[in-house]
Amino acid sequence: MSGAARNKDANSRNSLYGKDLLDIRDLDKDQIKFLMRRADTMLEALNSRTRLDPLKNMILGKLFFEESTRTRQSFEIAIQKLGGGYTGFNSDKETSVMKGESLADTVKVMSLMYADVLVLRHPYAGAGREAAKHSDVPVINAGDGVGQHPTQALLDMFTLRKEKGKMKDLNIAIVGDLANGRTVHSLAYALAVFNNNITFIAPPELQLPRRILSDLKNNYSISVQKTSSIEAALDVDVIYMTRIQRERFEKPEDYAHFATSYTIDEDFMSKAKSGTIVMHPGSRLTEISPKIDSLPGSVYFRQASYGVPTRMAILESLLVK
Ligand code: NCD
Repeated sequence: MSGAARNKDANSRNSLYGKDLLDIRDLDKDQIKFLMRRADTMLEALNSRTRLDPLKNMILGKLFFEESTRTRQSFEIAIQKLGGGYTGFNSDKETSVMKGESLADTVKVMSLMYADVLVLRHPYAGAGREAAKHSDVPVINAGDGVGQHPTQALLDMFTLRKEKGKMKDLNIAIVGDLANGRTVHSLAYALAVFNNNITFIAPPELQLPRRILSDLKNNYSISVQKTSSIEAALDVDVIYMTRIQRERFEKPEDYAHFATSYTIDEDFMSKAKSGTIVMHPGSRLTEISPKIDSLPGSVYFRQASYGVPTRMAILESLLVK
């Protein structure tokens, strides 16, 4: 086999079957590219209303110990669009965890009851990895406290692919609560793997954890900057806004102090580089004025919709050889 053919073969093979997806660093560049190509196919099927059933008779078990709108719904839609079904709970109040049951036992029971994949959202960083130790089936981390949110990073990369036509060599400003925002903790690594330059914009107290910043600087060949000035987002290809994460603050007054740190509005966008797109993982609070929702570069609603084809690609890859 020629080098090129071997390479093509490696790129088209599914190396994710049976694996967990707990941290974006679980995936290498080829695996991310593989998922993006599968998500393209899923999007085409969704748009042409083609029926798919590779996950017929498979059941997704939802273990959502924290609230969610987009992530939970898009997993529910994704599994059903692939012919499967789901069960599980949407808040810790619906479970025996309220009676004191451990995460380990909850996971063990779900996986023994013939669920084919578990999707976990939990308030503690590291809960995904802990859950995976007790599961016989793949576990997907759908957000663990201030830790990781790898499926969001994948749908964010898919959004770049669809809206900018590429996932590499872009200048990206990531804005908001970078200390607590798990979407950023995953996305930053995915962007780094594809050689994107990142400017982290946050109040000094809410900057990206130092360990992640130095990891990016030392282990990836990208340019990384940090600042508290939103002006730095005027000259980039992509502005990724995030909310201040209220649930991670101990004191309400601390949250109130930072809540409205940044807002981008019509005036800001009129000064921004032409062709800039604005992304947001949701939930949007005051960081993006609704007045810019109808601008062509405001892609955050479409971004949420890309959660469905992306999660279809993830589920199919973990569950079908
Ligand atoms: C994010 C989360 O829960 O981390 N939401 C989501 O999954 N789309 C971001 C957030 O809530 O700020």
